[in-house]
Amino acid sequence: MKRFNIAIDGPAGAGKSTIAKLVAKKTGFIYVDTGAMYRAIALFMLEHEIAPGDEQAVSQAVKEVKITLCYEDGIQQVICNGENVSGRIRTEEVGNAASAVSAYPATRGHLLALQRELAASQNVIMDGRDIGTCILPDADVKIYLTASTGVRALRRCKELTDKGIMCNLEEIEQDIRERDERDQNRAVSPLRQAEDALLIDSSDLTVNQVIDKILQAAASRGLQIP
Ligand code: DC
Repeated sequence: MKRFNIAIDGPAGAGKSTIAKLVAKKTGFIYVDTGAMYRAIALFMLEHEIAPGDEQAVSQAVKEVKITLCYEDGIQQVICNGENVSGRIRTEEVGNAASAVSAYPATRGHLLALQRELAASQNVIMDGRDIGTCILPDADVKIYLTASTGVRALRRCKELTDKGIMCNLEEIEQDIRERDERDQNRAVSPLRQAEDALLIDSSDLTVNQVIDKILQAAASRGLQIP
């Protein structure tokens, strides 16, 4: 049976995961967070003292990394070589390392089949950087979700402080700029808007307004929302 796939791409901190989780709930789709897979690979490298900037070493070591996903109470869990690492991949250090290791063809190739299989076997809303351009070029709905750098930095800061983690807004904004620069300018699958993607700038929109736009796009492609 043909599956309905929604692809959401965009830069760090644009609100992709918040939005995708809520759309998943409304549609009954499975939410697939591909950034978490790159983060799990990055964590593996950090824990094995492999420098994220060393392409050769990362490309060799990634062959030893088996990533799978499972869901607990509807929440995605990332399993890396049999161990649930979901609680350890959300730091800025791991995010920056993920941005570095995700630039290598070996890392991307390692995750491509898994991501495509997930989308082929069920209705998914999948978020990342190259879902609409590379992983699911035939996705039924493609969204490019962005927001200004300042708004994204504020959101990231709030997310961290809500978790009790101290943060510095200027440093976060600088991190976001560097991450955008790397994600957009790498040779393999750079972050960019697919030609047929709907651009949503969420800087001045509420979460519900963004969700409505996505649901409208899905409805216009024939999705009947339960
Ligand atoms: O969305 P995130 O912050 O969890 O992603 C972490 C890094 O992983 C991000 O800087 C770029 C990379 N990434 C990617 O290259 N392709 C994806 N589909 C998802 C994430």
